[in-house]
Amino acid sequence: MSLAANAVPNDLEAFWMPFTANRQFKKAPRMFVGARDMHYTTSDGRQVLDGTAGLWCVNAGHCRPRITEAIQHQAAELDYAPAFQMGHPKAFELANRLVDLTPKGLDHVLFTNSGSESVETALKVALAYHRAKGDGSRFRLIGRERGYHGVNFGGISVGGIVANRKMFGTLLTGVDHMPHTHDPGRNAFTMGEPEHGADLADALERIVTLHDPSTIAAVIVEPVAGSTGVLIPPKGYLQKLRDITLKHGILLIFDEVITGFGRLGTPFAADYFGVTPDIMVTAKGLTNGVIPMGAVMVSSEIHDAFMNGPEHLIEFFHGYTYSGNPIASAAALATLETYKEEGLLTRGTELAGYWGEALHSLRDKPHVIDIRNLGLVGAIELEPKAGQPTQRAFSAFLAAYEAGLLIRTTGDIIALSPPLILERQHIDEIVDTLSRILASLE
Ligand SMILES: Cc1ncc(COP(=O)(O)O)c(C=O)c1O
Repeated sequence: MSLAANAVPNDLEAFWMPFTANRQFKKAPRMFVGARDMHYTTSDGRQVLDGTAGLWCVNAGHCRPRITEAIQHQAAELDYAPAFQMGHPKAFELANRLVDLTPKGLDHVLFTNSGSESVETALKVALAYHRAKGDGSRFRLIGRERGYHGVNFGGISVGGIVANRKMFGTLLTGVDHMPHTHDPGRNAFTMGEPEHGADLADALERIVTLHDPSTIAAVIVEPVAGSTGVLIPPKGYLQKLRDITLKHGILLIFDEVITGFGRLGTPFAADYFGVTPDIMVTAKGLTNGVIPMGAVMVSSEIHDAFMNGPEHLIEFFHGYTYSGNPIASAAALATLETYKEEGLLTRGTELAGYWGEALHSLRDKPHVIDIRNLGLVGAIELEPKAGQPTQRAFSAFLAAYEAGLLIRTTGDIIALSPPLILERQHIDEIVDTLSRILASLE
């Protein structure tokens, strides 16, 4: 029996799929049964080009041998070690490798199993840090409209995507939001960083004044907002946030779950923008998406604030059964090795120009109202269909899948984030397919 025939389940009802139109999917399922490098294989035997690195995570491409072998080997050697009060060498090795890779000053690592858990961890570290310093009145957390920080309660509280928040009660108290930076009126069809909008960071100064700096623990932003539809920060905006937070003793958290590990052509967005946060949140590309894992990098100042009191006492009451799991650690080490060997963390720099030009060649296609790009991220924003928001982009998603291309849509925005191993011919293929699809959309 072929792999494809073998892999098709006969009942789709039991699995309540995440962030999915379940009823639509189950009427016409889209199943992947294999993958290699830039492509998936579907259950009906077709090849689909991965325009989104899975969910922004498969940065080195699919089924890379070094990573597969590392997982196989680790599973046979040490499958699990308790994460609390015990250790194993690979988690320490990985933490050291990450400290070497992250911007100077981020010298300690807490491990998690996902981006959402990394966000919760970062928020809790921030609150507890101030308290450990005797500054416990700093309890407020500031996020941003349209921000995505995963789906747990802290993350949706500081997040700003309405659909992700509105069903879930009162969320965390003591949270406020800065305005988002999307300004198509002034910045539409900008290549790279938009010119206009650094002044939007001044809203933070107003929020700080409103609540008083002595009540604010941390500000969290995605350096490039991904899930909301790729919002590139205006020139100078992130530096302004850094200046304001430093001035008021507020921690700055960068959620680099999407931008981390080479997406912008530098290891992290912090490197790209030359702005170093106090806490950096990562996941996804850390293990090439293969095994769930996240990592939160913090400054020594934060770490050291906890390292007092009797030495037999636990310093920070937080962690997960699978923090630094041996198999995840082995996968992450092999992933970092693959990135290094193939120069993938800076490959985006070489391709960004070609990528940007190619995407912007679609600007005159029907319904296109904006195109944005940075590094190897891109977005094409479509005019919503009257009375049927999201329908047009969803139709594009379905048509692209039929045509052999995986894209991601959010609202009426097509988001693109291909594996970093892609070649120019893949960029051409993505743009050719999109060109045909956009021309045929109602
Ligand atoms: C910026 C950002 N933060 C957090 C998350 C949540 O990650 P996960 O889905 O692994 O929990 C995501 C996922 O897309 C993300 O883009």
